[in-house]
Amino acid sequence: MLSLLAPSACVLLVGCMFVSSAEVFSLSDQYLPLWNETPGQFSDYSVENGKYIIDPWVYPKRMGMYKILLNKTANYFEKFAPDNEQNFLWGLPLQHGWQYKTGRLVDPTRMTDCGYESGDRLCISVDSWWADMNYFLCALPFLAAVDSGIMGISSNQVLLLPPSKDQTKFCLNVSSCQSSFPSTMRKWNALYKHLQSPSSSFKDLLKYLWEAHVSSLKDGYKIFEDRLEYYSKPEAGFGKDWCVVLDYLAAASFPTIFSTVSEFQQALPPRVLVDGDKAPFISDFTDLQNIVLLGLNLLYKVDSSTGSLSLTIWKILMKTQAAKMLLLEIFEAILVIFNPTFLG
Ligand SMILES: *[C@@H]1O[C@H](CO)[C@@H](O)[C@H](O)[C@H]1NC(C)=O
Ligand SMILES: *[C@@H]1O[C@H](CO)[C@@H](O)[C@H](O)[C@H]1NC(C)=O
Repeated sequence: MLSLLAPSACVLLVGCMFVSSAEVFSLSDQYLPLWNETPGQFSDYSVENGKYIIDPWVYPKRMGMYKILLNKTANYFEKFAPDNEQNFLWGLPLQHGWQYKTGRLVDPTRMTDCGYESGDRLCISVDSWWADMNYFLCALPFLAAVDSGIMGISSNQVLLLPPSKDQTKFCLNVSSCQSSFPSTMRKWNALYKHLQSPSSSFKDLLKYLWEAHVSSLKDGYKIFEDRLEYYSKPEAGFGKDWCVVLDYLAAASFPTIFSTVSEFQQALPPRVLVDGDKAPFISDFTDLQNIVLLGLNLLYKVDSSTGSLSLTIWKILMKTQAAKMLLLEIFEAILVIFNPTFLG
């Protein structure tokens, strides 16, 4: 089983671990669409009754929550590298940017024009499974950061606007998120608490990040699993595979800094999958995108057929440095095979 598991899991990470040192750290629109037009401070939002009002159902406004979070946490990462380069919270806005760019935030039911080029492109649809899952990776980390004091405003000073329907499924302020999702909010708080401690190592912090991340996803998954029905079979399958993969990335403490995540994204499907898409034979995908999609599905199958025993074994393996090194060598080999320009 391990021999089956190892290569598939490696494939997932192709392109992540071997970011060349020449890779520039640039906040280009390629990775973060509309970043320059995104609000970057609380005063960019409107105020009502002494509270900042944020509409997380408009792409730049949701993205602005990440921009503020990145800004307010920057000084805690200075000891690791200059210019916020080692801030592992970059993974969150990068993934959201990828969702926007690849058309995953639109109304999958097509009942509205929310998110479509022909309609309101900046609209984030409450019916989008990706958008709802992302809410738990945006609102919760953001509000927990407010609560922990690092954002420079007090807990009752910010309010998120509800979506057009299913309002009760989303928490909108610090206190309602804490009462609805206590365990996840505690995990995000734990991350920010340790972030403020000068003695925390990068490795330890990454562990807290992944614990909170996985917990957010599990909260969201339970509530929104039925939204996957709006999608083609391949896209719904990819969404499920993705959630399983994250458990493995979490166990490997994948460093979600800008350079690794932006590189990794080149291996992810560049558009929503439609019926008939079958990896590794999707003609408008690169070889790398095809093989990674296939690998994600293989990992999902291994995981479910072993009742997640594979994850248990993976977690044990990832505790040893030797296994991590071996993985790196395999990643490199795969990268060279599928991306010949890598060495050039
Ligand atoms: C954070 O934002 C403020 C206000 O926009 C800006 O002056 C400051 O340079 C930013 N800090 C970092 C580390 O990006
Ligand atoms: C938070 O939101 C809930 C409803 O979602 C509301 O009842 C409560 O008053 C709000 N709390 C604060 C501090 O704004």
